[in-house]
Amino acid sequence: MSQSDSVRIVLASRPEGRPSPQNFRLEHAAIPTVGEGQVLLKILYLSLDPYMRGRMSAAKSYAAATEIGQPMEGGTVGEVIESRDPAFKPGDIVLSHSGWQSHAVANAAQLRKLDPKAAPLTTALGVLGMPGFTAYAGLLTIGQPKPGETVVVAAASGPVGSAVGQIARIKGARAVGIAGGPEKCAFVRDTFGFDAVIDHRDPDMAAKLAAACPNGIDVYFENVGGHVWDAVFPLLNSFARIPVCGLVAQYNASGQFPGPDRLPGMMRDVLSKSLTIRGFIQREFAAAQAPTFREEMARWIAEGAVKYKEDIVTGLENAPEAFIGLLEGRNFGKLVVKL
Ligand SMILES: NC(=O)c1ccc[n+]([C@@H]2O[C@H](COP(=O)([O-])OP(=O)(O)OC[C@H]3O[C@@H](n4cnc5c(N)ncnc54)[C@H](OP(=O)(O)O)[C@@H]3O)[C@@H](O)[C@H]2O)c1
Repeated sequence: MSQSDSVRIVLASRPEGRPSPQNFRLEHAAIPTVGEGQVLLKILYLSLDPYMRGRMSAAKSYAAATEIGQPMEGGTVGEVIESRDPAFKPGDIVLSHSGWQSHAVANAAQLRKLDPKAAPLTTALGVLGMPGFTAYAGLLTIGQPKPGETVVVAAASGPVGSAVGQIARIKGARAVGIAGGPEKCAFVRDTFGFDAVIDHRDPDMAAKLAAACPNGIDVYFENVGGHVWDAVFPLLNSFARIPVCGLVAQYNASGQFPGPDRLPGMMRDVLSKSLTIRGFIQREFAAAQAPTFREEMARWIAEGAVKYKEDIVTGLENAPEAFIGLLEGRNFGKLVVKL
């Protein structure tokens, strides 16, 4: 790579089912030129998140698909190396949405300056960034946990799930986590401080979840769907709240979902138990809640009430494999690529 080169990973083809490395292509490109009101960024960290699987697909969704041949989308932390906007100077560190590339031009109005002394830069992509905010807004606005209630969340070692359980405990609720494998389960219990944790790969998962929730479930923060939802659903109490945040177990599915059709039984319980099931995309809450979130979450981290774990992979060329692994639970903590 020469001084004038930037490197990027583009969507080469749309996956059918599980993505493969062939769906991505690494390309070299000229460093883009900077216009008025813009800055040139050298990307330092790229966030890898489950929603990117949706952008690889042309299926109808809440956001437009990435076009074939275009860089993969993604949240980034970068350093300003050239600025044509008075608000930024070279050396400033900013949060941007620059995608899977080493350099990017960004509109200054869309950037947020980060203070490297206030928190490790990677946290702007995790616990203090979009995933942490997703947990905070979804749990507190839709889940509304009360002292003594039971809150259940899966993908509990990841950035969203770990924050959900810890915030639930701050609000006086019992947190029950679900995670894949003994190492993740131990971390969720011992470091994140959940009251109980269940391994979703355990064949007795449903019975163990029932035993861990003797008073039923008041809030189920839905991150995964699939067999975890099947185990949770019969345990929901009357007036339970279910923020539907993600369904990672089915992101690689294609075609019709397998039967049998359980919708009529589910709707019967939605009615008879007065359940609240509400999907959300975090950005709908951002304007109203993001500043309070950043303040509260920074305080909780400083007080030791919220802990976080990051999984940092080095090299943009390793992003496709790391991303494929994220959808299968091979990450352990917030997945970030260091460029
Ligand atoms: N609605 C929104 O605005 C919004 C915003 C951000 C994230 N999300 C969603 O929040 C969820 C968590 O995101 P994250 O960034 O915190 O991801 P993450 O936990 O770092 O990674 C996803 C995890 O899902 C678990 N998983 C994968 N397949 C599974 C299966 N079949 N059954 C059970 N668990 C499975 C794996 O953990 P285990 O090894 O523990 O199984 C994997 O590590 C995702 O569904 C994501 O799409 C939604």
